[in-house]
Formats: sequence, C-alpha cells, structure tokens
Amino acid sequence: MLTTELLIRFLNRNPALTITGIEKEAGMPTRSLTQIINLKRELSDKQRLKLLPILMKYGYSETFNLKATTIAIANNKGGVGKTTTTAYLGEALSNRGLKVLLVDLDSQGNLSQIFNVTTEEGQVFNSLINFNETLHIKPITENLHIAPSDLELQKAELSLLSAPANQQRLQRALVPFLDVYDFILIDCPPSLSVLTLNALNASNSCIVAMQPEMNAVNGLNSLFGVILETQILSNPGLRIEGILFTIVEKNTVHIGLKEAVRETYSSVNIFETEIKKGIEIKKAQALKSLIFDFDKNSAAAKSYDQLAVELLNNLNNKK
Ligand SMILES: Nc1ncnc2c1ncn2[C@@H]1O[C@H](COP(=O)(O)OP(=O)(O)OP(=O)(O)O)[C@@H](O)[C@H]1O
Ligand SMILES: [Mg+2]
Repeated sequence: MLTTELLIRFLNRNPALTITGIEKEAGMPTRSLTQIINLKRELSDKQRLKLLPILMKYGYSETFNLKATTIAIANNKGGVGKTTTTAYLGEALSNRGLKVLLVDLDSQGNLSQIFNVTTEEGQVFNSLINFNETLHIKPITENLHIAPSDLELQKAELSLLSAPANQQRLQRALVPFLDVYDFILIDCPPSLSVLTLNALNASNSCIVAMQPEMNAVNGLNSLFGVILETQILSNPGLRIEGILFTIVEKNTVHIGLKEAVRETYSSVNIFETEIKKGIEIKKAQALKSLIFDFDKNSAAAKSYDQLAVELLNNLNNKK
C-alpha cells in the first residue's frame, strides 16, 4: 500500500519530480501534497487512488525501496578524492532525506576520521573475518551512518588469503542492511586488492573518482579490466556508474586530460558534475566537520549536492 513514508522516499529518490507537477497531474488541490509530506495531513484512500497511477508512470512500484543501491567508489590510484567523494556524496544524499550507509574499506581509516568516528566497538574487519558477526555501524546523523575501519583492516588481506569466498565477505555482511538503507557507499583503498574485489562484488555499480593528472589514464585501464572480470566471473549486475573528475583545476593540462579521457572511454558515462579543487574541503576535514555544516554554500557542498541529483536522475533513467 502507498504510505506517506513510501511517498516521501520515492519523491526523495526522484529529484526531477516536483510536488506541484504531481499535484497537477493527479488532479489534487494545490499544496495538498505538501501538507501530506510535511505530515500535517494523512494520505486518504481517495488521494492514494489519484496518486498511484501518476507515481507508477514515473517508476513507482511496491518494491522500489526494498533494496539499497550499493556503489563502490574506486580507483587504484591514491589521493584522487575517493574518500572525500564517499563522505560528501553520502552527506548530500542523506540531506535529501535518503538513508545512507558509508562503508570504510580502507585501512587508512580516512573516511572514519573525516567524521571523527572511532572503532573501539568494532569495525568492518570483524565482519569480514568472522562471517557471523554483524557489521558494526555508528550514526553520524539521523540519515547518515558509517561502518568504520582503522589499521586493523590491513590484517584482513592476509587472513582472507586462504579463506573460502574471500571476495564475497562484504556482500554477505551487507545483506541484512539492504532493506534498511537507500544507498550504501563503499570507500575503496588505492589498490586492486582483495578489499576492492569485495567492494566490487558487493556493489550494483562503481563510481571512478579521477583527478585529471598525467598518469591517471594508465591506471584506469587496470581498474576497468578488474571490473570487467568481476562482471563476467562473479557479479554480472555490476555497472560502471561513471567517471567523476575530482580536484579539478582550470589549467590546460586538466582540460586536455579530461578531453583525452572522454575520447578514450567514449562508451563510459562521465558525470557532468565536476568537483573543483577548493580549500574548504581540506578545512572541513581538518575540523572533522560535515561539509554542509562547515559551509552549505561552499562550492564543494554545492557540487556534491549537484552530483547527488545527477546520480539520482541517472539511476531513475536506467530503471
Ligand atoms: N576537491 C578537492 N579540493 C581540494 N582538496 C581535495 C579535494 N578532494 C580531496 N581533497 C584532498 O585531497 C587529499 C586526498 O583526498 P582523498 O583522501 O579523498 O583521496 P583518496 O583517493 O581517498 O586517497 P587514498 O587513495 O589515499 O585513499 C585529501 O587531503 C583531501 O582533503
Ligand atoms: Mg581514501
């Protein structure tokens, strides 16, 4: 049955739909939908009947929210903005009313540090090694949660070496949470290690964060090779969501390299949103502040919100 909660979740996932547009199409009085969404009025059976066919036209079904969309943020090259993108894309999606779980899959623990989250009550490592141990999750805000990690995760690579299903451990650990969250974003380490393979096997798609620097293109070939092998051998549902240009500067080298990537990978989606180089990211991270709390009007906060909208629109168009 269409409930107010499902209605809100569906509208949050579809930023292209406007409330006034839906009201008009459903023949409902102006502001009646706003009142329902703001929990000032209950959704009546009559309104349900008017809304359902319109929402279904835009992809609504009873099961639309049963499974989280899981996305690995990857690149074997280091320092290209993977962790920053996981953190702030997650924040942007959660600000839009979506429930988001961030998974820190890098033993550097940078994602956990950005949000000042510690691991004394447990971390991702525990669930990878002991497959019966529930993933340890801590809240950052009401809608944004994190499964943290620290250096301990380094041991996973050795311990998992001869363990059965050693690339499917994260996928298994996430199963109980697929109907809890709208999005699960996994921050990968800067390598094509067993941890990155766990992320790719647990994911529906992959965002490749890429700084347009000289040696970036070579690295991409090996990452795309591993994604292709994962698709063929173990996770046929894995897609490349797109390449995201990060830490972008307005110089001829960056402009030229972005063009070269567009030509070389013409079949891969490249996000229109770019994340420009900006000092506010370093400042927010030094203060362990959420980027939208630090400055919601900063270029970084605005760009990551724009990325969230672009991602949601792309996902809706693929349905
Ligand atoms: N848009 C940006 N503008 C300026 N600095 C940025 C930007 N994005 C990230 N940084 C900074 O660049 C550094 C690397 O970013 P980040 O840690 O997100 O990259 P990473 O790919 O996760 O690195 P690693 O491969 O080591 O995990 C950090 O110090 C971060 O604060
Ligand atoms: Mg990182």
